Amino acid sequence: MNSHPLPRINIAIDGPAGAGKSTVARMVARDMHYIYIDTGAMYRTVALKALEAGISPEEEDRATALAERLDIRLLPGPEGQKVLADGEDVSSRIRSLEVNRSVSAFAKIEGVRKRMAALQRKMALEKGVVMDGRDIGTHVLPDAELKVFLTASPRERALRRYRELGDNPGISLDQLEREIAERDRTDREREIAPLVQADDARFFDSTGRPAEEVAGVITEWGMAIARTISAEEK
Ligand code: CDP
Repeated sequence: MNSHPLPRINIAIDGPAGAGKSTVARMVARDMHYIYIDTGAMYRTVALKALEAGISPEEEDRATALAERLDIRLLPGPEGQKVLADGEDVSSRIRSLEVNRSVSAFAKIEGVRKRMAALQRKMALEKGVVMDGRDIGTHVLPDAELKVFLTASPRERALRRYRELGDNPGISLDQLEREIAERDRTDREREIAPLVQADDARFFDSTGRPAEEVAGVITEWGMAIARTISAEEK
């Protein structure tokens, strides 16, 4: 029997809005005893704090300065991840419709992206992270041992988000689908670190496939890579 633990790897999961990245990434992290890092929550926190401070996405210098001094912490917890901004719990406020509508405009700003990417790389230094976002495999962790590009049909992605909004969604399914498509377009067309599949990422269409099943496949891929690295080290 092999009593040595497998070497830890980094896993990057990128894809468009509502593809199921955060649910799946959290399950993979749970099963591999890794740390889950939701990079979208970090951009959402910048957007929330900027809106609260009356900063618009056109004011790039002010938004960058805010991102640079903001203390963002991601804490794993039993009911999902908690997000603290300067010590204050903003976990639910970063999911508001206002933040949904403005986050991509703030995420386009070079200074904001630089700061977030630096924080994210630091979090992954020790390995053993599952990080989800838009540019993880292409920019933040180009050396991640496993990269997955996760997507689903536009209708299914809108439906998943719609269900998450609960009994009072405050928006119609059609309108939500349009807003998601608009955010995807902004993310794909921006100049810095756009949403694109990395050349060495594995493509995964999760349409009609339950999250546990998708997570099971990705965990298997991760374990296989860790075993290969372990065998090469011997
Ligand atoms: O969960 P959802 O798919 O709605 O989005 P998210 O992962 O919370 O990310 C919100 C927004 O942050 C995205 O639409 C991007 O504009 C931005 N983002 C980014 O630019 N780069 C990342 N690595 C993660 C998110």
